[in-house]
Amino acid sequence: MLTKEQIINDSKQYSLFSWSAQSNLNPLAIEKANGVYLYDYDGNKIIDFSSGLMSVNIGHGDQRITEAVVEQMQKVSFVTPSCTTEVRAKLAKKLASICPGNLNKAFFTLCGTSSVDNAIKLARLYTGRHKIIGRYRAFHGGSIGGMSVGGDPRKLANDTQQMPNTVLLDDPYYFFGMKELDEATKLQLSLEYVERIIHFEGKTNIAAFIFEGESGSSGCLHYPKGYLKGIKSLCEKYGILFIADEVMSGFGRTGKWFGFENHDIIPDMVCMAKGLTSSYLPLGCLMVSDTIAEKFDATPMMIGLTYNAHPVALAAALAVINIYEEDKLIENTIKKGAYLEQKINELRAKHPSMGNFRNTGLLGCLDILKNKKTGELIAPYNASGEDLKVTNLIAGKLRALGLYTFVRWGYIFIAPPLCITEEEIDEGLAIISEALSIADTHLEA
Ligand SMILES: Cc1ncc(COP(=O)(O)O)c(C=O)c1O
Repeated sequence: MLTKEQIINDSKQYSLFSWSAQSNLNPLAIEKANGVYLYDYDGNKIIDFSSGLMSVNIGHGDQRITEAVVEQMQKVSFVTPSCTTEVRAKLAKKLASICPGNLNKAFFTLCGTSSVDNAIKLARLYTGRHKIIGRYRAFHGGSIGGMSVGGDPRKLANDTQQMPNTVLLDDPYYFFGMKELDEATKLQLSLEYVERIIHFEGKTNIAAFIFEGESGSSGCLHYPKGYLKGIKSLCEKYGILFIADEVMSGFGRTGKWFGFENHDIIPDMVCMAKGLTSSYLPLGCLMVSDTIAEKFDATPMMIGLTYNAHPVALAAALAVINIYEEDKLIENTIKKGAYLEQKINELRAKHPSMGNFRNTGLLGCLDILKNKKTGELIAPYNASGEDLKVTNLIAGKLRALGLYTFVRWGYIFIAPPLCITEEEIDEGLAIISEALSIADTHLEA
């Protein structure tokens, strides 16, 4: 058995940690996890308020998944993707049943990014067009394709490697003079802007739009009501496909199976990962409409990967989806999301530094203010160095008090496992409240 120090030292010495300068890292070493709690090697209990990477939707340590995985491994662990298995048949049929419309064909991948990459390829193969339109304030993964169709600033270090033929949109409503207008006019102007971009880029050059079903890592920046529906209408008008990236917002996270269901649209393709297996094993899926799939009835579909439809990962996914239903986790998400919002509002009286809380189901992000009058956050977009001083103090306090979540720039993400109880929400919010006291003392006005 290694000591906690050996685990941390050897992990740092012999492995690389993503998205980070390596030398000053101090990773949490986790020995076990159960429900909404992680336990470190000193026996400390840490409440997981971000479900890992907004992905362990059913909660940690559920032995029903272990049993399903072991049972599958005892039968067969791997078959080539050209063979098939009972679990492939069952899971694909199940996914078709929870997806609306004619989204009936599952292409299994390895993770979120590989679902996005394959969606881009398939959109181009299907339409014969080459451009993909995404948003600056969106994250679609770390591969060259995934990072290029989103604008998350983590990609800027790899700027020279970006995939060509991608176009990014600014968020709706950010334009000069918009503030004064009513919602309907703002929506109309925002969609007219998108339509102009379609024409500038050449309407017959655009294969697809890609949008997160609900915004995640960028700060849960809500789409204005009617915006996605308007984009979908533009897609229909110009023969463009709509790809919904449900990697973070899928599988109950927003109180529906998929985030796009909050916007009354049915996409042509849906990218899935994270909640698909609740991260118990790596797996992604690209759900494709019958219309797109038909194109490949006679023409070979030139996408593939060794671990396509990996039986063990599929067994985990099937068991996880059964748990969403058996344990009524989507219903719980709606109830606990409402409770969370109510409790956050109650905390406002105590913490002048609390800004907006944008939440859907249990996908939430709290703004931490530097200036209440101007709405300026304690750290700006893509802040670094000294600008992160207060953010780092808050993040350090949360960790010291035993709460795990993402604190990014001026945001605290709140996206606990969907099985969370009211008592556990209270416990986590009590810790957040203590950490917000730090921000209160830095408030400028
Ligand atoms: C919306 C979205 N798409 C894609 C990804 C990439 O997923 P993965 O890290 O599994 O490749 C993420 C990861 O956070 C995501 O939030």
